[in-house]
Amino acid sequence: MYICVCNAISEHQVQDAIAQGASDLGDLQAQLGVATCCGCCAETATEYLPGGRYAADVGAAPGGLTGEVEVTVLSRTAIRHVA
Ligand code: FES
Repeated sequence: MYICVCNAISEHQVQDAIAQGASDLGDLQAQLGVATCCGCCAETATEYLPGGRYAADVGAAPGGLTGEVEVTVLSRTAIRHVA
């Protein structure tokens, strides 16, 4: 799933950058180029940072959560299977 459509940056790339130490939007912009065009993805990308709504998605599923999780990105809704 793409987080940044303008720059074709995936959720996986954002998660990897955070796992490797990116700690704020500036880090993600510098490392990946996320939110450097229209900026529509900035809020969503920020939610993957520590303390964000999707921060628990980095690494293992939180608290044993399994099944499907509805995720809305850029006004689109997708169903993501969490194992
Ligand atoms: S969607 Fe990321 S800069 Fe436009």
